[in-house]
Amino acid sequence: MIHIGPQDFVFILTGSGVSAESGIPTFRGAGGLWRNYRIEEVASPHAWARDPRLVWDFYSMRRSVAASAKPNRAHLALADLEGRLADRLFLCTQNVDNLHEQAGSRHVVHMHGELFKSRCDSCQRPPFADDSGYEAPVQIPRCECGGRIRPHMCWFGEVPYDLDRIFAELNRCTVFAAVGTSGVVEPAASFVAHVRGRARTYSVGPEKPANALSFDECIQGTAVEVLPNLFSVAI
Ligand code: OAD
Repeated sequence: MIHIGPQDFVFILTGSGVSAESGIPTFRGAGGLWRNYRIEEVASPHAWARDPRLVWDFYSMRRSVAASAKPNRAHLALADLEGRLADRLFLCTQNVDNLHEQAGSRHVVHMHGELFKSRCDSCQRPPFADDSGYEAPVQIPRCECGGRIRPHMCWFGEVPYDLDRIFAELNRCTVFAAVGTSGVVEPAASFVAHVRGRARTYSVGPEKPANALSFDECIQGTAVEVLPNLFSVAI
């Protein structure tokens, strides 16, 4: 159990493992998305330039899977924790689904983007809500400026979102917990090393992450098994 006292600031980093028990596949491991798709063909600026229909096929498929998913008890536990800690909790997710929001989390930073948003690949129009499925042979949707509408995703080779805010929160946290993430994708994989020595650090998942040596404690179990009883809060 992780004890949270009145002076603590908690940083939670979630990865695809937190949504696995809601039926959304992870990226690596058995059944993982990157077993069936090549990253460079569907999730990179190069892929978008070469074959935008294939890219939209991939994200349309992911929209359709995520559209029917419901939050699980791990998402609910984190929403409950936010209810108790308010702005002493910072929830940063690598996930692009909206299951944290559906569970009731009000302040979620999606460092890799959001599946149900799109944006223009040319102009500065802000990302907008979009749950359409753009499957081949449909034309690539166009912005008023003439640019092409792309998924609001951080692709490989692009810079994750909100890093200034994320590092400010890493600098003030006293408790850091990574849930359901393999610890291989940067920069999220190095967050634990950034806070090490200043914060108590935990990982949660059925397997040890690749960066396990950086954590004080690796708690073994699925997100749904562990999260509901993980935190004790003394306000
Ligand atoms: P990965 O697929 O790399 O890792 C998933 C992690 O979740 C593994 O450590 C699993 O052991 C763990 N896991 C599986 N089932 C779980 C469960 N029920 N409860 C808890 N943990 C479980 O996914 P991420 O670490 O999220 O980036 O991947 C990071 C980034 O790589 C993604 O955001 C995505 C991907 O390429 C982009 O698309 C930019």
